[in-house]
Amino acid sequence: MSNRTFTMIKPDAMKKGYAGKILDQILQSGFRIVALKQLHLSTAQAGAFYAVHKERPFYGELVEFMSSGVIIAAILEKENAVSDFRKLIGATDPSKADEGTIRKLYASSVGENAVHGSDSDENALIEGAFFFSGLEQY
Ligand code: CMP
Repeated sequence: MSNRTFTMIKPDAMKKGYAGKILDQILQSGFRIVALKQLHLSTAQAGAFYAVHKERPFYGELVEFMSSGVIIAAILEKENAVSDFRKLIGATDPSKADEGTIRKLYASSVGENAVHGSDSDENALIEGAFFFSGLEQY
């Protein structure tokens, strides 16, 4: 079992100035940063990252939103990283997220939900490799 996951702080949270608070909460929860960068995705890059959702009705909206401003992408390490990180961020829809979770605290809607977290070890590897070469991971 891999102990790494992949996350993005999305344009809504970046624009509202929550990046520092979110990163602090991640670190305080025991995650180690393996790799981290700030970037502005093109629509083609956002579309490629979320290609798995291509057939979903919200795909166009998702791609537009994810390319609407800068994001922070990061690979994180911790025991049970994927499941523990999903607990830390809370449900995809912030109105259903538990108190104290990152989405409950900082997200406004299911579309603009502040952070991404990988849903499996397999996807964590694929998503991390989308943004970072092996040389950029420590
Ligand atoms: P994320 O964890 O980044 O993975 C896929 C994203 O699609 C998800 O977070 C949401 O931001 C977005 N998403 C999921 N369901 C909807 C929806 N019904 N409407 C708009 N966006 C959605």
